[in-house]
Amino acid sequence: MSKNIVWHNAAVSHQQRQARNGHQPCLLWYTGLSGSGKSTIANAVDRLLFDAGCHTYLLDGDNVRHGLNRDLGFAAASRVENIRRITEVSRLMLDAGLIVGTAFISPFIADRAQAKALAGDAFIEVFVDTPLSVCEQRDPKGLYKKARSGEIAHFTGISSPYEAPLSPDIHLPTAELTIEQAARQVISFLRQRDIISGQPD
Ligand code: ADX
Repeated sequence: MSKNIVWHNAAVSHQQRQARNGHQPCLLWYTGLSGSGKSTIANAVDRLLFDAGCHTYLLDGDNVRHGLNRDLGFAAASRVENIRRITEVSRLMLDAGLIVGTAFISPFIADRAQAKALAGDAFIEVFVDTPLSVCEQRDPKGLYKKARSGEIAHFTGISSPYEAPLSPDIHLPTAELTIEQAARQVISFLRQRDIISGQPD
């Protein structure tokens, strides 16, 4: 970074944004295998929060790879860069006072730790815990089949590692939960942490 670039302090403070929004900002970092249900659960949570009047935004893996990160593939270095950019974008959104959701495989512990380091107490790790066998059986996009036949390289869980969280803030064993129950578990956590109060029911 050039030493001719100087940081400007913002005229509107975090406290002022928080007071207007009626909730604290936070970063719900969903992680799990492809097809585990990250996007589905993250969208269900986003809907509940939005309908309750919260200011939210969801960054979704597949969608972000259509735009901001369209130049990145799935080799390890690209995944690291993918998550680095997402972390920086999330940080801006946190600064704007939003409840941010990110739904990316984010397979590496070190990258998630980096997101946590940057977001601080606002970081909430949500492990969407669906066994590989279940994801592979679902195979909603037909990608596991292609990965098994060698048509897709570096596929998470097949030919590229997934490092599960060791102590996630929220653990969602999806085999035992409906989407509604999983979403409610996230909402309860936000209420316990005083990120939201009262809403939603
Ligand atoms: S991450 O590992 O870099 O966090 P990200 O969440 O952005 O991954 O993208 C994962 C999505 O890309 C998967 O849900 C799947 O639809 C698609 N995809 C395509 N190729 C791969 C691959 N080699 N490994 C994993 N996902 C892939």
